[in-house]
Parts: sequence; C-alpha cells; structure tokens
Amino acid sequence: MSPPSTLLLTGGAGFIGSHACVELLDHGYELIVVDNYSNSTPHVFARVERIAGRFVGAVYELDIRDRRALSAVFDRHSVDAVVHFAAHKAVSASTRMPIEYYDTNIGGTTSLLRAMHEHGVHQLVFSSTASVYGDAGHGPLNEATPARPANPYAASKWLCEQILADACHRHPEFTVLALRYFNPVGAHPSGLLGEDPSGTPDNLMPCLAQVAIGRRHRLRVFGNDYATPDGTAIRDYIHVMDAVDAHRVALDHLADSPGMHTYNLGLGKGRSVLEVVSAFSAASGAPVPYDIAPRRPGDVPEQVADASAVERAWGWRPTRGLADMCVDAWRFQQLNPHGYAGTARRADG
Ligand code: UD1
Repeated sequence: MSPPSTLLLTGGAGFIGSHACVELLDHGYELIVVDNYSNSTPHVFARVERIAGRFVGAVYELDIRDRRALSAVFDRHSVDAVVHFAAHKAVSASTRMPIEYYDTNIGGTTSLLRAMHEHGVHQLVFSSTASVYGDAGHGPLNEATPARPANPYAASKWLCEQILADACHRHPEFTVLALRYFNPVGAHPSGLLGEDPSGTPDNLMPCLAQVAIGRRHRLRVFGNDYATPDGTAIRDYIHVMDAVDAHRVALDHLADSPGMHTYNLGLGKGRSVLEVVSAFSAASGAPVPYDIAPRRPGDVPEQVADASAVERAWGWRPTRGLADMCVDAWRFQQLNPHGYAGTARRADG
C-alpha cells in the first residue's frame, strides 16, 4: 500500500495541529482541516501557509461531533488517512467539567470513526497523552505500564484508546497509531506559530511566557512538597516540532501492520517545574518571578517517558532539548505579545 497523500486533520488550527500542518505541507501532503476553533483561531492558517509556501487544501469550521457535517467533508474529499488532534486538553478544567470533556473527546472520536468507516478510510494517527499513565510512581513509563488515569481528561483519552483498539479488533482493515505525548511545548522556530491558548493558560510554558512578557504578574508553581529533588513536579517536555515530526514519520508507517499500535513521545528526561522556570529565565534573559502555590487538583508528582519503543520501531527520536523549547516559546511570545489576536483573517475559499 502506498503512503497516504491526502490527509484530514481534526483540530488542525490548534497548537500541535497548526505545527503539524506546516510539517506535513513541507512534506508534500494535501491537507483538509476541520476545527471548531474552541481553543484556536482561523488566523493561524495564513501563518501556516506563509511558512510552508503552500496552501492548506480546504478548511472547514465544524464540530466533529456533528456527524452530518463531518460526513459531508468525507463525501467531498478523497481522504487517505486522518490525524486526529481535536480534543479538550486541560487537566484542571476537566476536573471541573467532566461531562463536557467526555462528550467532546469521546463523542468526537466515535463520530470520526463512524465517518471514516462509512467512507472506507481506515488509517488514523491519534493524539493520545502520557496522562493515561496517571500516578505510576517513579521511573520511566513504557507503553506496557498499566493505565491509571487520574483526571477526566486522562480518562477520556484512555477510553478513546480502548474504543480505537476495539474498532481495530472488530474491523481489521483499521490501522491506528496512538501517540502518547508527554508534555509538548515550544514553538515553530520562525516565531510565527506557537501556543496561544484562549483565556488564562493552563499549561506551564505559556504561563511562563506570559509572565516573562508582562501579561501576567507572577507564575504560580503548583506544589513544592512532592517527593522530588526540589519538591516540584517532574515532567518530560518535548518540543512541538519533534512531536509533529513524529506524526510525519508515523504516516510513513501506517501501512506496516494493521491494528492498533501505541507509542510514547517524550525525551526520556524528567525536568522539574523549577528547572523549567530556570531554563525559561535563561532563554528570556531575566528571572521569571514566581510564588509557590498549593498543588493543582489532578496533578501527579512525576511522569517521564521510556521513549525507546518508537526509536526501535521507526528509528526516530527527538532532537531538540529544553533550551530550544524555551528559546522558541519565548521568540513566539516576543513576536506575538497578544498571541494571534489582530492577525489578518484568512480568506477561505
Ligand atoms: C497534562 C498531561 C499531559 C498533556 C497536557 C496537555 C498529566 C500528568 N499530563 O500535562 O499528558 O499533554 O496536560 O495539556 O496529566 N504548573 C505550574 N504552574 C502553572 C502551570 C503548570 O506549576 O501555572 C505545573 C503543573 O502543576 C505541572 C507542570 O507545571 O506540574 C506541567 O503542567 P502543564 O504544562 O499544565 O502540563 P501537565 O498537566 O503536566
């Protein structure tokens, strides 16, 4: 089977989706994007196209739970494979709005699977998350580590993985590559694309960048009483450009063997919150002020990838370190102090 050439990207305007658009356009793919802009903006496509020097084939504003609208997209385009990014992703919001998280993340995935199956499209790269492992204790987590989702966001992604595995079992024509991201951060090196969350950011890197640029007063470090060397929580941060590079490589391997295959995407290196604060301060040239705050509900003390399976399978590994992640995130924040707000709107046709 030849590699896919026309891809449908759900959530293609989002943080990882927009960087993936650039990467995949650069590698010759035709792209169809669907997004409901719940945490993104269509302004991003003008930037994607400027970097890539090519157009996104078509962009549709729709919620993938709208089965009729989604089906119409599959009717209109001959899609070879799907990359499914669209989801809610904030841990703390998921503890406040579990029903919405399950509805969007699971309902979106089942709607997509139905549309794919009805249209004879059976190749899928799925955005999963390391949060499915939950509080699995100290040490690197491999793909066989039992899942212990600690919040509704993580549980929703874990349930999606189960649904995808069942779909593959029942319908052997499906191939699903589920990529469990650890903590994707950073920005495109051009400074044109980055993470631009609506409202108050939930994640560490955009919070740091907004404090450093003066949009927010001080960073709150959630907990310094974890059983870690400096007391703050440890995560495995991966540059968004490495994460999207892994998706491009995954597409080359969709035809390797049917069924569902799951891979961690991380560096295999844990960094504490205070280490990230220090790296960001070095990148921005000034100390980022912070206060110690109580632990955040749903957080786990430590999550570090055993990233060896993807390297064994595809000979792929990330190449960018924490300093690159901070430098690129800071460049995006400096060039876009208010994110994408004010960017000229793309003329969709
Ligand atoms: C979580 C998921 C991760 C997923 C990501 C998507 C877990 C364990 N991880 O990442 O798989 O890809 O959501 O958004 O569920 N922090 C602060 N101050 C802040 C913000 C964050 O101290 O203002 C701390 C957090 O408490 C945490 C670390 O920074 O210890 C990273 O937080 P964040 O960037 O929000 O990502 P996770 O919650 O780890």
